[in-house]
Amino acid sequence: MNNTSTFIETKEYKRFAEFCDACIKYRYMGVCYGLPGVGKTLSSRYYANWDYLEKQISYRHSESIGVHADEKIFDCHTLFYTAPAVSASRMTNEIGLIDSKLNMVKAVYQSMVTEEEPQFTVNSFEGINLLIIDEIDRLKLQSLE
Ligand SMILES: Nc1ncnc2c1ncn2[C@@H]1O[C@H](COP(=O)(O)OP(=O)(O)OP(=O)(O)O)[C@@H](O)[C@H]1O
Ligand SMILES: [Mg+2]
Repeated sequence: MNNTSTFIETKEYKRFAEFCDACIKYRYMGVCYGLPGVGKTLSSRYYANWDYLEKQISYRHSESIGVHADEKIFDCHTLFYTAPAVSASRMTNEIGLIDSKLNMVKAVYQSMVTEEEPQFTVNSFEGINLLIIDEIDRLKLQSLE
């Protein structure tokens, strides 16, 4: 299930969100674990508002960049990424690409609002204060580090 519209903010979710907040505040690298199905993936996506962001960064043509964005885009400071089952070497590039695409959407949407030229920042992770990686058990120790 990827649709967070039916997501319930359980006690466990609130603890997870507090943990994420603490990671941001104290610049921790945290690890969350739990039995299959307890809601790790769904909680992460909900915290990152990923259903919304995924839609924003899934554009295929430059004309569609930012057309579905709204002010909420500026409140998004967390990236969500699922570790690849194979070939962890692409991980860094893929995370960089997600960041660049989000920056692109923010810049284009900002320029729509201000009617000024968009200011692009590439691979900067500007405005990103947390990166959540799901399924890290797929990674070898080297990639995890
Ligand atoms: N807070 C929640 N609100 C609504 N449904 C939930 C919630 N948490 C979990 N679920 C339900 O449980 C299912 C499994 O959740 P999820 O995929 O996030 O588990 P997981 O911990 O990531 O499991 P795995 O370890 O197998 O990856 C979801 O598809 C959803 O139906
Ligand atoms: Mg999961």
